[in-house]
Amino acid sequence: MPASISVIGTGYLGATHAACMAELGHDVIAYDVDATKIAALADGVLPFFEPGLEELLRRHTASGRLRFTTSVAELAERADVHFICVGTPQRADGLAADTSHVEAALLALVPHLTRSSLVVGKSTVPVGTAARLNQLAQESAAPGVTVEVAWNPEFLREGHAVRDTLAPDRVVLGVSSPEAEKVLRFVYDSFVVDEVPVLVTDLATAELVKSAANAFLATKITFANVMAELCDATGADVVTLADALGFDQRIGRRFLGAGIGFGGGCLPKDVRALMASAGELGVDNLFGFLREVDAANTRRRHVVVEAAVAQCGGTLVGARVACLGAAFKPGTDDVRDSPALDVAARLQHLGAHPVVYDPKANGTGARAFPALTFVDTVDEAVQGADLVMLLTEWPELVALDPRGLLNRVGSPRILDGRNALDPESWRNAGWIYQACGRP
Ligand code: UDX
Repeated sequence: MPASISVIGTGYLGATHAACMAELGHDVIAYDVDATKIAALADGVLPFFEPGLEELLRRHTASGRLRFTTSVAELAERADVHFICVGTPQRADGLAADTSHVEAALLALVPHLTRSSLVVGKSTVPVGTAARLNQLAQESAAPGVTVEVAWNPEFLREGHAVRDTLAPDRVVLGVSSPEAEKVLRFVYDSFVVDEVPVLVTDLATAELVKSAANAFLATKITFANVMAELCDATGADVVTLADALGFDQRIGRRFLGAGIGFGGGCLPKDVRALMASAGELGVDNLFGFLREVDAANTRRRHVVVEAAVAQCGGTLVGARVACLGAAFKPGTDDVRDSPALDVAARLQHLGAHPVVYDPKANGTGARAFPALTFVDTVDEAVQGADLVMLLTEWPELVALDPRGLLNRVGSPRILDGRNALDPESWRNAGWIYQACGRP
């Protein structure tokens, strides 16, 4: 028998969760305050790019297992398990995460509940939030209605969201009662039996697993980037170094990619939120190194811009720079805290004329940075360029033919901000090739 599930918030996380729960066979109703978005989703149109997701959306809006609404009362009426998937962006007034959307979602839903229900948070929140929401749920529930709050953090990566949701590395269930565990095990039953590890924890541990995972990944990337700076100072090669480190099974090669650093809607804000949360708990001395991770990550953007200045003979004034890539990473049109666009904007401030091309993120990029020039093809971007910069390692950009581009550019100079290109083939084709932390 399927579970009746509601999903509150239809961004990258919520839309993916809703479609994947329908794919697992459940009856799903998804809610958002944004009526335009809900109308598009109900028509099977995904308002952002995520490989494979629109197909699932279409399949399950057609099958009737996935419905959309702008009525919270309808969620309460139809579903027994309610997943909160709204955003927790960085607060405008500091480093902490803004949990007001999560709280608002809970407070909007709970008074409508007329039978015992489980509310499951998936958003990334500071430790202690779930316990506080549990208390709020008790206070706002109608008399005689039992509402429990559980926490089930989501580890999906943009660009791989469907796969990460349907075949996760692990499932973490933060619960306060055996009943909540039973309900969640039932929801995830079809892949639990496929031997995905399930860890049942208290609420605080579940919240912290997510913050810790993202802080660890950010630290790992930054370690590679700091080594890249050391390699620049010594003539060593950070890619070979990372390969050699990666063969050590205790370390592993993934997330040792040096370049212009991490961005996106999660890693940067989660690192800061963890520091802020430690400060609020009176243990801010624990995370001095995360301050350095954050600073070193921002420094990467500066270092790459400095390299561009050097490549262009000491000044960028009047230089035409082809910026290949705008998304914060390949496989998405998300430009939140995108290192690529930050670099392009910095080039512009220094007097250059950056021309940006991204296979999927031109639209989102132009909305976030209206002063930058976006073009529809690589050819237009590189036309007459004094410097070409690879800023997001989309496969189609990594596969570019260096010989084919030669007669379009003004000067055959390329700066590989992601260490993704093959230096030899570019040099052999006649380019001056420079990467990050490579001789
Ligand atoms: C991240 C976590 O990986 C995911 O588990 C969590 O649920 C949400 O946050 P995401 O933001 O989609 O996912 O991106 P991720 O693939 O982690 O990449 C983050 C950033 O790190 C990107 O800007 C990427 O380009 C950069 N990165 C990644 C590197 O600079 N080097 C690497 O080796 C790997």
